[in-house]
Amino acid sequence: MAEGELHRPVLLDEVVEWLAPVDGGVYVDGNLGLGGHAERILEKSAPDGVLVGFDWDAAAMARARQRLARFGDRVHFVRRNFATIKETLAELGFGGVNGLLLDLGLSSLQLDVSGRGFSFKGDERLDMRMDEREGRTAADLLNSAGQDELADIFYYYGEERQARPIAARIVASRQQEGPFTSTAQLVRAVEAAVPRRFHPKKIHVATKVFQALRIAVNRELENLERVLRDGVEVLSPGARFCVITFHSLEDRMVKQAFNSHAALRVLTKKPIVAGPAEVAVNSRARSAKLRVAEVRRGDHGP
Ligand SMILES: C[S@@+](CC[C@H](N)C(=O)[O-])C[C@H]1O[C@@H](n2cnc3c(N)ncnc32)[C@H](O)[C@@H]1O
Repeated sequence: MAEGELHRPVLLDEVVEWLAPVDGGVYVDGNLGLGGHAERILEKSAPDGVLVGFDWDAAAMARARQRLARFGDRVHFVRRNFATIKETLAELGFGGVNGLLLDLGLSSLQLDVSGRGFSFKGDERLDMRMDEREGRTAADLLNSAGQDELADIFYYYGEERQARPIAARIVASRQQEGPFTSTAQLVRAVEAAVPRRFHPKKIHVATKVFQALRIAVNRELENLERVLRDGVEVLSPGARFCVITFHSLEDRMVKQAFNSHAALRVLTKKPIVAGPAEVAVNSRARSAKLRVAEVRRGDHGP
């Protein structure tokens, strides 16, 4: 598969328009992934713009390094959680940042070919960690959490209405058949727990359970909360904060954080979504929402 097919950066033109990178600016990409957005930001901020790119996934980082090699020391690669943005930028010696982009969630590389069990298609080991250096795997969580804890994870992180019967089935299954190790085992348990008539029409019956587990394993909402708060502190007056989300839990958090932060002025009253042409060639764009805020200039601005 060609790189472009494997991962098309979502809302690429819109991101560049709103982030408005300029020569000499300092930009942070919290989700380098395959480096698609980063590449365009570096092109637009040539010849002297700088980009600090975070990604905690080793495979993603390796691909981004390859793709962005031609920009030399204009790029700083950081294999860390973006929630460490404040400490990391202080360590690297960057004061004010001119723009910050988050493109949350998974890359198609992780979803399709990582072998870490992010997808309900196929049969892979149940890991789901984007950063394999730490934390518990999805299998650890499924095999050790109590029934109520599992039900809460599915309900709150997946907005799954069948959370309770699914959790009950998982607990029964691990008692009768032994621990969960593979994605196919989990899919079978979900299918067995949800009566046919409650299977959703547009998505696979296990979609929300997979989303919920991934969010829990990677502590995605905690990390987002932190970067929404600390990200504002690293930005210079007039800098733009752009966030692309893929589900309603994240979008709600971004909307609330932007609206309630005194230092920010919201530039997108309604989120920007992909047009039909982009959705036609990239299904991932279907659920993408971009929100943008600007740091108020206050007394410091020109
Ligand atoms: C949707 S992809 C980014 C795609 C990228 N914008 C591009 O143009 O190719 C999301 C990436 O963010 C990374 N990621 C998710 N949460 C992260 C976190 N808390 N810290 C660092 N990287 C994270 C994932 O490993 C993944 O590679």
